[in-house]
Amino acid sequence: MNTTINDVKIIDLPIFGDPRGNLSFIEEEKQVPFKIKRTYWIYDVPGGQVRGGHAFKNQLEFIVALSGSFDIVIDDGLNKQTYSLSRSFYGLYIPHGLWRQMENFSTNSLAMILSSTLYSEEDYIRKYPDFLNYKGL
Ligand code: TYD
Repeated sequence: MNTTINDVKIIDLPIFGDPRGNLSFIEEEKQVPFKIKRTYWIYDVPGGQVRGGHAFKNQLEFIVALSGSFDIVIDDGLNKQTYSLSRSFYGLYIPHGLWRQMENFSTNSLAMILSSTLYSEEDYIRKYPDFLNYKGL
């Protein structure tokens, strides 16, 4: 499937509101449309730093701002869209084949990424010209 920015979507998560504090959760193939093989997180990002400028050939992912805020720029080679994540009760679903960059991290921000694949360097497209070529552009 030749994915576009229209295949990216914000998914709202359940919230159990409680005077003791709120609770949200994610289950594979329910809140996220894939089986979760890996979880990683990005934290202690120095001001002005950019992460994740690359695309994945197979990995599907879901990104939640567990704390703080950051922006995710999605690029399908033709169009771009920026999503700002700032609350832990929703996240961004990103299918494979899209260039994505994370930027504008606030102090103490914590980005959690759920992935459909184990880590594999072969799944990365790290150079933008290679990405355009991959997309047939
Ligand atoms: P990378 O995905 O390139 O970071 P970013 O998307 O922020 O640019 O990951 C940085 C390094 O971390 C990568 O070269 C290898 C290692 N890494 C793992 O070993 N396992 C993982 O699950 C991830 C995401 C990264």
